Amino acid sequence: MSIALSERRSLARHRRALGYWAVSIGMFASLWISTQIQPAPWMHLPMLFTHLASVIAGLGATVMLDVKALRWVTGAQQLSDLWLFERSVTPLAWAGITGLLFTGAFLQPSLDEPITALKMVAVFVAAMNGVALGRLTDTLRRMPPDTRFAAAPTRLKLWCLSSAATSQIAWWTAVIIGMLNTSGA
Ligand code: HEM
Repeated sequence: MSIALSERRSLARHRRALGYWAVSIGMFASLWISTQIQPAPWMHLPMLFTHLASVIAGLGATVMLDVKALRWVTGAQQLSDLWLFERSVTPLAWAGITGLLFTGAFLQPSLDEPITALKMVAVFVAAMNGVALGRLTDTLRRMPPDTRFAAAPTRLKLWCLSSAATSQIAWWTAVIIGMLNTSGA
């Protein structure tokens, strides 16, 4: 392995480690703040509106990314199209997650309810999986741009599939529980 490549990999590893810390601290801060403050009643509507807008941004970005990935899997698009799309949509996904952590802190979650605790686990998994996805995309970027999914190594195929499944399951769990909480079910 060339020195430049090994340096790039170690830089990417450090970036991911920072990402894991940022997610953990962000999650902890959001939950801690939610137990410490009593927001003014007028704040509820704007925070809930921004929470929903953040769901649209974050979930929308991940669904679109997985649809693009599926098009590569089925051979309808090139790997290089997926690279370009991933680069443009990733900031939107992180803006969504940041917005959800921020606004959630002012929505007074009932953390002692098991279903809310399950939602928080799902949020944490979705965000950590987002950081871990960086390693997968770095690996895909090192492959020739016209690599077909069918020709990729089995380990990489399973990695793509498990990463997409984890992301969808975690996001939809959080969305469904959020809606159940709001509707008082
Ligand atoms: C992946 C992250 C998240 C997703 C996808 C998500 C999704 C949702 C959805 C869809 C709703 C229902 C909104 C409505 O029907 O009007 C909701 C409500 C809610 N969310 Fe989240 N949420 C996330 C993160 C968080 C976090 C981190 C917190 C708290 C720290 C939080 C606290 C709440 C609360 C308390 C409500 C209920 C608000 C109310 O009923 O007035 N959420 N969430």
